[in-house]
Amino acid sequence: MLPEIDLVVYPDECDAFGHLNQASFLSLFERARWEMLARGPGMDVFTRAGAWPALRKTVVDYHAAAFPGDVLRFQQTLTHHGRTSFTMRQTARRVRDDTLIASAEFVFVCIDRDGKPVPVPPEVGEYMNPWRESAGNVQRLMVHGVNLGVEVHGDGPAVLFVHGYPLDRTMWREQIDGLPDYRCIAPDLRGMGQSDAPDLGYSMNIYAADLAALLDALGVDQVVLCGLSMGGYIAFEFLRHWRSRVRGLVLMDTRAEADDADGRRARDAAAALARDSGAAAIADAMLPKLLAPSTLAERPDVVQRVRAMITRTPVAGIAGALSAMRDRSDSQPLLSSLAGLPTLLLAGDSDSLTPPDRARAMAQAIPGARLGIIPDAGHLTPVEQPDLVLAQLRDFLKSVG
Ligand code: MLT
Repeated sequence: MLPEIDLVVYPDECDAFGHLNQASFLSLFERARWEMLARGPGMDVFTRAGAWPALRKTVVDYHAAAFPGDVLRFQQTLTHHGRTSFTMRQTARRVRDDTLIASAEFVFVCIDRDGKPVPVPPEVGEYMNPWRESAGNVQRLMVHGVNLGVEVHGDGPAVLFVHGYPLDRTMWREQIDGLPDYRCIAPDLRGMGQSDAPDLGYSMNIYAADLAALLDALGVDQVVLCGLSMGGYIAFEFLRHWRSRVRGLVLMDTRAEADDADGRRARDAAAALARDSGAAAIADAMLPKLLAPSTLAERPDVVQRVRAMITRTPVAGIAGALSAMRDRSDSQPLLSSLAGLPTLLLAGDSDSLTPPDRARAMAQAIPGARLGIIPDAGHLTPVEQPDLVLAQLRDFLKSVG
């Protein structure tokens, strides 16, 4: 994770009414970037490589006013890394009350002294790329006209990990690292993580078809399918079409019912919020629901990891997932037909989005299903209690063979 940078607002940066002015805000964003580099490869990382990051495009959303004396905390992520260009997303929050003050996106092209584009210095990518730990294991595979990022680790029976909304494959980090005897396949769904984010074309059916095409491209016939929340909705859709490819099923913090009318309205409201205020506003709205109260209060590293995952999700991917969830089918009728398919259901005991009762109901409806309730976990059990989830997965996978 890149370091957070705290900067103080000075009176000379503010207008006659005492608000931080826009020109000064741009220079604070810039100062935060240089400060971040100073704490990593050094401020001279570009000049050492004979490349200068020329700003080509800036989009800033100002959400609230900042005043002299406010300390602003800047969080920054690299959202795109091309050969000669890169894009950074930055957010500034007031430390005192955690108010989101502004979020911004900056597109840079690296140029030489003559203004010709040159490659981004490798040290910059290595330092800023949030996916760098898994860089060697990530493939980009084109399916249905969209490039999907997929991480493949280990050797043995295949396990397909499907992440939830609005997250990415890195939520499975500890489980993938802990299962070297399995071929762990963790894609970024279209619109999230390192996958392309088209403006249109999102539904449970398309997500599931993407997964089937990915498995074809990787030469994998059968998997244990493991989905969290929206990943569970996609698992149901996958089972409707490709049941014979699934040897075992793990459903975490999910439910079988479709959205009711209120739920569908809430999806549209969330999509409008994402379009108006960006992914950072979605992170603000969702974090209290995604994590257990104890995680929120005592584990800032976990909160920051999940916030970073959400804020780097493109708005098109967020809005697409919301429409896909809004329109998904009721999967309750499917449950009894899963008799004979080894199934494990896991739920966090403090999951407020899909309370453990949903998992209990599914465990009763799926003949022979196992149920595990994970203590001190909210909706993101694999991130909040990675070891407990890993232990449950190991036992289950051993029993599936
Ligand atoms: C998820 O975690 O995938 C979503 O919160 C699921 C939902 O909103 O129904």
